[in-house]
Order: sequence, then structure tokens, then C-alpha cells
Amino acid sequence: MTKEEIVDYKKDKKRYDNRKMDELRPIKIKVGVIENADGSAYLEWGQNKVYAAVYGPREALPKHSADSNKAVVKVEYRMTSFSVPDRKRPGPNRRDQEISKVLGEALSRAVFVEKFPNTEIGVYVEVTDSDAGSRVACLSAASVALADAGIPMRDLVSATGVGKAYNEIVLDLNKFEEDAPDAVDIPIAILPNSEEIVLLQMDGPLTQKEWDSVVKMGITGCKKVYEMQKKALLERYSLEEVNEKDLIDGIDKSKKSTPVKEDTKKVVKNKKVKKWETQY
Ligand code: CDP
Repeated sequence: MTKEEIVDYKKDKKRYDNRKMDELRPIKIKVGVIENADGSAYLEWGQNKVYAAVYGPREALPKHSADSNKAVVKVEYRMTSFSVPDRKRPGPNRRDQEISKVLGEALSRAVFVEKFPNTEIGVYVEVTDSDAGSRVACLSAASVALADAGIPMRDLVSATGVGKAYNEIVLDLNKFEEDAPDAVDIPIAILPNSEEIVLLQMDGPLTQKEWDSVVKMGITGCKKVYEMQKKALLERYSLEEVNEKDLIDGIDKSKKSTPVKEDTKKVVKNKKVKKWETQY
């Protein structure tokens, strides 16, 4: 089947890329990928590839941008020139500014901003490849990077696209679906534990019935993303049991002959850098 032959997902009962209507594209998350940052993450979502780096809380600059009651979450969303089929002009455009603003507002709902008055938390998200859904990929990566930076949060922010394409309600629209004649694309983000919606944008009309299905499908999709975010963080920070002798061997070969007491044989070690990639 060619792209041109696709007109009705409801009739075909499958999508162009063979996903189910409520299926996400494959997602892969790595935590702690930028040494200079206080927290960072790399996320692949289908063809989308994004980096998120977090700095702070640090002094808010310029000083007039500071808020004496809370931290300001400043997001900079950027797409590299080579991340889209037509070369994107370097430098921020209106779309980048809009996305930076809505991502900052969404993340501010999760962070305990009131704990850090007069400071800023800098969140930089960079898209290196894209196929629609880059803002929800960036938002999901940014919230993992905030957690990696140890910033106190009431919850992660989990996001996905959802909407309508080719006469059917679908989860996580790719670019081909976003370009459908009847396409409605709805980026949605929630705090998964309370289900508070912290981002919702919409670019077309839906009936009440379609809207109800879209919100339900979107929240379920966000919760799937949440599980992957948690798993990626746990893989970086969880503890594993190792044999004490192996640990001694690894740290200092000269202490190899140190007798290992039976009762202290099991110790825990952070497996931070041992396995930091999670594929779903
Ligand atoms: O990426 P997202 O869906 O959050 O935002 P969008 O504005 O709906 O853009 C959808 C897709 O259009 C992006 O993911 C890019 O693949 C593509 N795009 C592009 O080709 N050129 C641009 N200047 C901006 C976006």
C-alpha cells in the first residue's frame, strides 16, 4: 500500500506504519548523557531524537527576570538546521518561542518552584531529528533530566501526541498523519499520579464523542510514557547486589588478598554507569 492509497484508517483497520490506533512509536530513554549538565536525558521517539539538559537552580539572570516567590523554569526549545527535510533557519523562530513557553509552564507545575525563590532552572532541549511530536518528546525528556538533576518535583511530566487522522482517533501521530487532510494534532501532558493536565494544545475541530476518546487515549498514552521514564531513571539509580570481593577487585587490586568476611559478603553498589540505556 502506498501513502497515496491511504484514505481511511477506519476501513483499513491499521495505520500506515502498521501500528495499532492506540500504539506509541518505539521509545528509548537514556539518563545522564551530558556531563556538564546538572541533569540530562536523551530520548528517541520513533524518528524523533532529542536531548535535554538542566542547569540550576542558579541565580536568575537578568536580575529583573527573577521572582522573589519562586524559581523561574526557563526552557529553550531548539531544532537543529538538519532536523527537518527543508533546512531550518538557525536561531529561534516564533514556533520555538511558543514551544519553549508552553514547556516551561508545564514543567513549572511539576517542580516545587516555591522552594527556590529568586533563582532560575535552565532547561535546554535540542531536537536533532524529527517526525512530528517533538515537543512532547522534549517535555518527557526534560522532566527526566530535572529528576536526574535532583530537583524536587511533585511528579514527572509525561506527554504524548494524540488526535485524529484519516478518519480515526489515533495515538502519537507521526508527520505523515499530522499532514492528513482531516488531521487534528493534540499534544497532551499530565502529572501522571494526579492526572492533572499541564499541557494541551489543539489545532482542529473534533466532535464531543471524539474529544472524549482522544482525552482518554491521551492520558493512557502518557501513563505508558511515565512507566518508561521511571524505568530509565531506576536503571541509572537503582542498587544491585554484588559480591564484596568483586567490588574490592574493581576498586583496588592491591587489596585483593583482604579476607572477605562471610557476614559482609553482600554489599550494594550503584550501577549508575553499568547499564544506562533502556529500550522498549
Ligand atoms: O514537533 P511537533 O509535533 O511538536 O510540532 P509541530 O509544529 O506540529 O511540527 C510537526 C513536525 O513538523 C515537526 O516534528 C517536524 O518534523 C516538522 N517541521 C518541519 O519540517 N519544519 C519546521 N520548521 C518545523 C517543523
